Amino acid sequence: MTSTTNDTTGSAIDPTTTTAWEALEAHYLEQTTSLREWFEQDPQRAERFSRTAADLHVDLSKNLITAETMELLLDLAREVDLEGRRAAMFAGEHINTTEDRAVLHTALRRPEGAEPALEVDGQDVDADVHATLRRVYDFADKVRSGEWTGVTGKRIETVVNIGIGGSDLGPAMIYEALKPLAQEGLEARFISNIDPTDAYDTTADLDPETTLVIVASKTFTTLETITNARLVREWLLGGLRDRGLDQDLEAEAVRRHFVAVSTALDKVEEFGIDPENAFGFWNWVGGRYSVDSAIGTVLATVLGPDAFEELLAGFHAMDEHFRTAPLEDNVPVLMGMLNVWNVNFQGAETHAVLPYSQYLHRFPAYLQQLTMESNGKSVRWDGSLVSYDTGEVFWGEPGTNGQHAFFQLLHQGTRLIPADFIAFATPNHPLTDGEQDVHELFLANFFAQTKALAFGKTAEEVRAEGTEGALVAAREFSGDRPTTSIMAPKLTPSVLGQLIALYEHITFVQGVVWGINSFDQWGVELGKQLAKGLAPAVAGDEQAIAAEDSSTAALIRYYREHRG
Ligand code: F6P
Repeated sequence: MTSTTNDTTGSAIDPTTTTAWEALEAHYLEQTTSLREWFEQDPQRAERFSRTAADLHVDLSKNLITAETMELLLDLAREVDLEGRRAAMFAGEHINTTEDRAVLHTALRRPEGAEPALEVDGQDVDADVHATLRRVYDFADKVRSGEWTGVTGKRIETVVNIGIGGSDLGPAMIYEALKPLAQEGLEARFISNIDPTDAYDTTADLDPETTLVIVASKTFTTLETITNARLVREWLLGGLRDRGLDQDLEAEAVRRHFVAVSTALDKVEEFGIDPENAFGFWNWVGGRYSVDSAIGTVLATVLGPDAFEELLAGFHAMDEHFRTAPLEDNVPVLMGMLNVWNVNFQGAETHAVLPYSQYLHRFPAYLQQLTMESNGKSVRWDGSLVSYDTGEVFWGEPGTNGQHAFFQLLHQGTRLIPADFIAFATPNHPLTDGEQDVHELFLANFFAQTKALAFGKTAEEVRAEGTEGALVAAREFSGDRPTTSIMAPKLTPSVLGQLIALYEHITFVQGVVWGINSFDQWGVELGKQLAKGLAPAVAGDEQAIAAEDSSTAALIRYYREHRG
């Protein structure tokens, strides 16, 4: 497989001009939705709308769809050439048009020796990916075995990852999800926010002699990360000095306690980190798609190379499913098209992701960057303005906590909020409270919620329970609130890799339908630019403050007057 072309910039299809879009609009107007009736009429409905992708069992039957809806959605997928676009991505064509880059996160998890070999823009991608992985694993093994020590000869006990966005959310989310696999005596911590409280709190109880810092930044220019790296370098050297470290040994201390992950290895060196201790990746990996690159070094180190390999294998299994399964059975395609159905025809503005797993408590936050930085766009990849809604707001919290917080609105609010429920059959910790298996109690909640959202409770049923008068309406549940249930045998590294890749590809599918480039993020630039420009005003330069708009000037003055 060789690709050097960037000829993917042709004009984007306006999906609203397709035959399938028009048919879907008519279908939406004709359809009388009733999940109760649909389930009663078709005892096979669950089976008809359930699919398997690698280890994931995905039940789409509680969505507001019929067989005809799915057919029309797949017609739409074909009309916008989803298959062609997917092939272009896997082949390394420059589908990230505004940055003229290939989009090849799928190459990061190709097994060694995969055929045909992948060469893109003259680069032997497979060879480079595996050479880097070997270096990362070698480093991880040294830290894990105690061969790599701090400058005073002590074994490393804490690995602090400094990064933000894609250089933080993926590693932090996965670490939380797979924490039980951490090597005894070795933990990971994460610093991301430029609020100095983050660095202060995270390092407060750490011993600099046993702390290793990974500075993770694709560009190595991100203000938050570079500032935090400097802060932590000060903290570490200060702590070592207090313990009598000779000044001559400071450069060596940075070498022993700081490593970096970046695509900009020249900048890493400028920071004082030994290029020997830097792990690279490539500009065809978007930040929010980078957790399976060297950005995962913290995971390979603390959870171990074996766990990281298993994670990559999980990603790859989902990639293969997405690349090869027929559209009718292709879970990322079906879920992506369902999201289009919900956003563009049913009017959904948000999408909840509700993992019934405490270990996945950072998964919704991770997905927020993946989905919203990818598809929060108003122009198509050829620069033309869209005339339809694009990226929905993703949000969520683990069950059952969410049930006692925002589920009220899911059940009885006025908005349609599609929700993905995620659960695992085998508990991480099989515990009883003396009477019951607590995991079963937990799962009973998972099953109950999607049932309640789908089928609701009619006024007659409320009355039959003895409720009368105005209370009847208050206690009625309309039902017909769409959910997808995703289940897997257990939360393992492989299953987690599958889940992440699933959402990556769902995001891609939606982007293709909307004709947008899901791989750039120009929308984050203006704020960064303005923050830099505001520095003199914030520091008290009266002329600079006066030049601001009245609101910004007044807020800065408030700050100047009230700072401690
Ligand atoms: O500002 C947004 C962003 O560029 C994200 O896309 C990225 O994940 C994050 O900042 C961090 O960037 P970097 O890894 O280059 O420090």
